[in-house]
Amino acid sequence: MKKREAIVSFVEYQNMDELPCAEKALVREALKAASGAYAPYSHFMVGAAILLDDGTVVRGANVENAAFPSGSCAEKTALSYMVANYGDRQAVAIAIAALKDGQLTPDPVPPCGNCRQMLTEEEQRTGRPIKVILAGDSAIYVLESSQALMPLSFTGRNLR
Ligand code: THU
Repeated sequence: MKKREAIVSFVEYQNMDELPCAEKALVREALKAASGAYAPYSHFMVGAAILLDDGTVVRGANVENAAFPSGSCAEKTALSYMVANYGDRQAVAIAIAALKDGQLTPDPVPPCGNCRQMLTEEEQRTGRPIKVILAGDSAIYVLESSQALMPLSFTGRNLR
């Protein structure tokens, strides 16, 4: 018998001023994306901005539906668009931010389980870690890889 641990380490910044320039720019893109959300049911507007290895930024927002499960998260929207349109490129980083009543949420918004699964798949597909920047008004978390969000995740390897 062996006890094993999966430890998540990440950097916490107190505010946007502390954040390195490249990360700050991507958070601004995520906020821009959030303003395009279609969220008439939750009024929770989430934006995701993915930075590609050639400098392109792909944005996505949550798109809700009266049939609730038909809606899509911001991260899923952005990742799907990225893979469909820039499949030969690699994602380097993703910033996620949400607006509630038009204001950036105080706490960083962590991606849901489905979106973590999608991020993990994208890392597996390209073999490159994706930096995850979760931005809130009172804290910003930066993780070096989305794998950290999903220890013991199910991947294509499990199907072989
Ligand atoms: N949402 C996202 O866009 N991303 C997440 O990771 C968490 C939740 C959206 C889905 C729904 O439109 C709204 O936030 C409330 O759950």
